[in-house]
Amino acid sequence: MPQLGDATRGRILFGGDYNPEQWPQEVWPADVRLMKEARVNSVTLGVFSWAKLEPRPGAREFGWLDRLMDLLHDNGIGVVLSTPTASPPPWLGRLHPETLPRDEDGRVEWWGGRQHFSHSSEAYRRYAAAITEDLAARYGSHPALTMWHINNEYCTYDWGDEAAARFRRWLKNKYVTLDALNTAWGTAFWSQGYGDWNEVLPPRHAHYLKNPTQVLDFRRFTSDMLLECYVAERDIVRRHTPHTPVTSNFMPLWVGQDAWRWAAEEDVVSVDLYPDPRDPFGAQSGALVQDLTRSQARGPWMLMEQAAGPVNWRGVNHPKPHGLNRLWSLQAVARGADAVCYFQWRQSRQGAEKFHSGMVSHAGAEGRTYQEVKRLGAELHKISGDVTGGHIQSDIALLHDWHSWWAGAQDGRLSTHVDHPDLLRAWHRALWEAHLTTDFAHPEHDLTRYKLVLAPQLYLLTDTAIDNLLAYVRGGGTLVCGFLTGIADEDDRVRPGGVDARLRELFGIRTLHEWWPLDAGETVECDGFRGTLWSEEIEAEDGATAIPYKGGELDGLPAVLHQGRAWYVSTLPEPDALRDLLSRIAADAGARPVLDGLPARVEAVRRGDLLFVLNHGREPVTVDVPGTHRDLLTGERVTGRLTLARYGAAVLRP
Ligand code: GLA
Repeated sequence: MPQLGDATRGRILFGGDYNPEQWPQEVWPADVRLMKEARVNSVTLGVFSWAKLEPRPGAREFGWLDRLMDLLHDNGIGVVLSTPTASPPPWLGRLHPETLPRDEDGRVEWWGGRQHFSHSSEAYRRYAAAITEDLAARYGSHPALTMWHINNEYCTYDWGDEAAARFRRWLKNKYVTLDALNTAWGTAFWSQGYGDWNEVLPPRHAHYLKNPTQVLDFRRFTSDMLLECYVAERDIVRRHTPHTPVTSNFMPLWVGQDAWRWAAEEDVVSVDLYPDPRDPFGAQSGALVQDLTRSQARGPWMLMEQAAGPVNWRGVNHPKPHGLNRLWSLQAVARGADAVCYFQWRQSRQGAEKFHSGMVSHAGAEGRTYQEVKRLGAELHKISGDVTGGHIQSDIALLHDWHSWWAGAQDGRLSTHVDHPDLLRAWHRALWEAHLTTDFAHPEHDLTRYKLVLAPQLYLLTDTAIDNLLAYVRGGGTLVCGFLTGIADEDDRVRPGGVDARLRELFGIRTLHEWWPLDAGETVECDGFRGTLWSEEIEAEDGATAIPYKGGELDGLPAVLHQGRAWYVSTLPEPDALRDLLSRIAADAGARPVLDGLPARVEAVRRGDLLFVLNHGREPVTVDVPGTHRDLLTGERVTGRLTLARYGAAVLRP
């Protein structure tokens, strides 16, 4: 199987989405000159070029792309060529209105924006395959081609009729009989029993709460349909170019795709990442996505898109202060990226994203943005040879599963304040602040190489996953689970006793009497810290209470339970308390921080034999780094102590 290394060939890929069709041809040579000055070695072409390539049904206008491919190749810049299928031309919607998706209220998503395609539409799939076929045939042997990029941020839903028909086919394949579907969906509730497959619909607009298992299956179906679209295009390009890697870019921690399944179908796992420069935890939320993407890739991954300056889709869109673009780019490399790319090369003058930054901003080559990009390009070039291909070892894994997220996020739950990504962020933040490097894993993955496994929340767990967790602990691993873990089976049926019996036994939960969600801002006293968001009325087995609640209704009952190597945390401890608790458990399990005594907001990551030290603070900082190193960025020797400027970074080789 081809991999990222086939495209990088020992260099960090540096570049971004390039949309030259938005510019007169006279700009192209200037673009290429600036790219070379900035050591850009890779651009992604064609992401939104369908109407340009196929202005009329069946027409092919490849001349402009031929010229660009040649121009880029002549200048040593590789091309990640995209299939243009994320944004069909208007004629497709006009000729085939059934290609336009419908929302749950039946409203059509018209052309005029982007991503107005139904994953289920036969006509869409046919036209997408045809343009993909011709693109692959034309450019498969072009020397500029380094990678295929399929579609862009697959994220559409469709509740329309063609999707309904495919949904029924998907369900028949899963359940075989209507009886099995009725049982899985619990249709005895509210008179929902189905007597004919044609009665089964996507979960469209309804008077009151929808059937949760129907909604869950619709999410699974949607992820699978999008994956079918991806695989169809991937297989076409693969037929033409079996040795060229294929990717499709994920949105960070995006709800709509089961990215574990998706990643298994990709040669290169890539992600688009846009932390808010003003977010005090922007660096950590970036680190989380990087850790997740690396874990999906099981090695080096591609930062397909980031912003050199502001985005334009938040309420208020802040620029990146001087140095932050460099720092966050090096952070991605530290956490396993072998490609650092942007949306987009040159800031658009027209269209919906004209206030979204580019590597070349409206200020042009003299602007600070391009100047910083240029410096970064030179630095990445300098460290490329030492970095690429390097792996990151972690003794810790955080568990995450999309199906559990989908099931746990349904309407009709006990607290809408409980949010799966927020919980992942809170637990990841605790580890990040303790300088403990973590991977992510699926609850059914082989976990045996980890000393510590953490499940912030796995509301839905399959029997296979539960067996896996039990075997992991039996084999000597330490497991910490947060509240609302092991509640439902894979049909979203609550397990007898409220939490799976095997897990209750593991944690020493004799009876779970009631869940006690907390209001926003409400806290619950525990012995030594305060809990937020949630609490539980649990009767523990003898000796299983590690930390009790103090005062209030739950006084004396266990907030944290501990038996052998298994821990259960029935609330969300405030950030410092969660950090301290997880650090203690990690230390007992033998998982060590990257460096001891690091100040807050300094991040350290080991990649291969390199040590990255990153200062996310706005003040200079001095840190102890035992031993003697050479900083690959400055060439200087570092003996014992390292001083980093605000947003400073060092890449140390022993
Ligand atoms: C996404 C898309 C890009 C662009 C950026 C803007 O990541 O893939 O085409 O719209 O967002 O942030």
